[in-house]
Amino acid sequence: MRIAVVGCGYVGLVTGACFAELGHDVVCVDHDAARIAALQNGIPPIYENFLPELLRRHHGGRLTFTTSTADAVSSSAVVFIAVATPSTEDGAADLSCVEAAVAEIARSIDRFKVIVQKSTVPVTSGDWVHELLVSHGVRRSHFEVVSNPEFLREGTAVTDFLYGDRIVIGSDSPKAAKVMREIYAPLINGSYGRSENAIARPKASPAKPELIQTSRNSAELIKYAANAFLSMKISFINAVANFCEAIGADVEDVARGVGADNRIGPSFLRAGLGYGGSCFPKDVAAFKTMVRQWECNFALLEEVTRINEEQHHIFLTKIKNALGHLEGKRLGVLGLSFKGGTDDIRHSPAIRVVKSLLRENCSVMAYDPAAMERTKTEVLSKGISYVHDAYSAARNADALLILTDWDEFARLDLKRVRGLLRSPVIVDGRNLYDPKKVAAQGLSYYSVGRPHAIHELPAQTEDRRSERIPAAVTINLGQA
Ligand code: UGA
Repeated sequence: MRIAVVGCGYVGLVTGACFAELGHDVVCVDHDAARIAALQNGIPPIYENFLPELLRRHHGGRLTFTTSTADAVSSSAVVFIAVATPSTEDGAADLSCVEAAVAEIARSIDRFKVIVQKSTVPVTSGDWVHELLVSHGVRRSHFEVVSNPEFLREGTAVTDFLYGDRIVIGSDSPKAAKVMREIYAPLINGSYGRSENAIARPKASPAKPELIQTSRNSAELIKYAANAFLSMKISFINAVANFCEAIGADVEDVARGVGADNRIGPSFLRAGLGYGGSCFPKDVAAFKTMVRQWECNFALLEEVTRINEEQHHIFLTKIKNALGHLEGKRLGVLGLSFKGGTDDIRHSPAIRVVKSLLRENCSVMAYDPAAMERTKTEVLSKGISYVHDAYSAARNADALLILTDWDEFARLDLKRVRGLLRSPVIVDGRNLYDPKKVAAQGLSYYSVGRPHAIHELPAQTEDRRSERIPAAVTINLGQA
């Protein structure tokens, strides 16, 4: 199948590269000439596992890149729209990029094509795209519009695509649905996973996805409902975590006990700094706006957002309590991206914490394995020192803060960290360590929804701390 993908962001690029991997001829389009030039040289503009490998395999062969939508569309039978739909000021999805893409696509439709919406768009947008194409003079018999939402997590997007739980096809047209089934056939029948050079299937992923065919409106809603539900799980466990701190329970144990119930499931029950990224905050906001526009009530979404917002303030208070005050403190920061495994810093809870600390006149030494360059050029060029590893961030710091769940931050040599810190304190917003093990290394450890493990400090400091952290369970390990 000859496929055009309009938009070379995370979704477009991964989708295009994976379709090439499935054997299709794919041309990816973007107006960003620098991005296309880099891709034409085989350089991925984003940090995404397996993407460099797929570019190496297919770039210049089954996978090409261009800035010309006209060329890409006219030579393709199927056109995927994968452009950004950021939030407007009132939280709605901004559809201007979709509108512009549709206008360009319309100019090159001279025979039947399937137009597939992969961007996350409000329910009934498929109808709008349909009418937009007609208003641009495209004959109704020359196209069908299909909704095919994506469920790709940054960092694992390639394997999420190749071994996803489900493929949702939203269309009432048997002809368009048949084309979609053909495109995804190697995944639906499992033949891709059995092929010789297939990217390996992660253990927890299914060998074949469930194919779910629905109306276009239902497919569009599946995307919002899925992201909102996952956000709700995170806010739920964070609210439970806060209660755990009040009563001295351990949220990791509680999450394990709750998640072991098949009906609930263990994933997305990790308490922490709250959800961030380019999807959950935007999609929950757009869902709320959509519900309002249809004059329906879904107050639960408000609460999900409120808890997520609160999580930031609770974490700042935790740091303050651990240190007595923030003014003038020197803090080592581990992590800037919105989660581990990506260089994406959009709506990053870590960066939000750093910004708040800078406002409190703290000095910050930050390290992130992938997101430092981006943070430096796009968000924080001043007031923060970027260092080249986790241990340099700890050096002479009043505390080490863990803000992103990169694997390497869970494997620190804690003894070495203890030796580098000016004061032996770790505040972990991602619960990467067993509190007892950290305390055993002579460190005080504050995490989320778990008893603080406080290494005994001189008497006056201990008095001060117990005033400020009434809920803490102190593990007294004596002097280092
Ligand atoms: C999310 C969804 O997981 C994908 O299915 C979806 O396709 C994508 O949005 C999208 O709409 O494009 P992503 O934003 O890449 O993917 O990241 P997630 O892994 O879902 O994490 C989102 C945020 O929630 C991160 O800040 C993460 O740290 C946080 N999180 C996640 C938690 O705080 N606790 C958890 O248990 C899980």
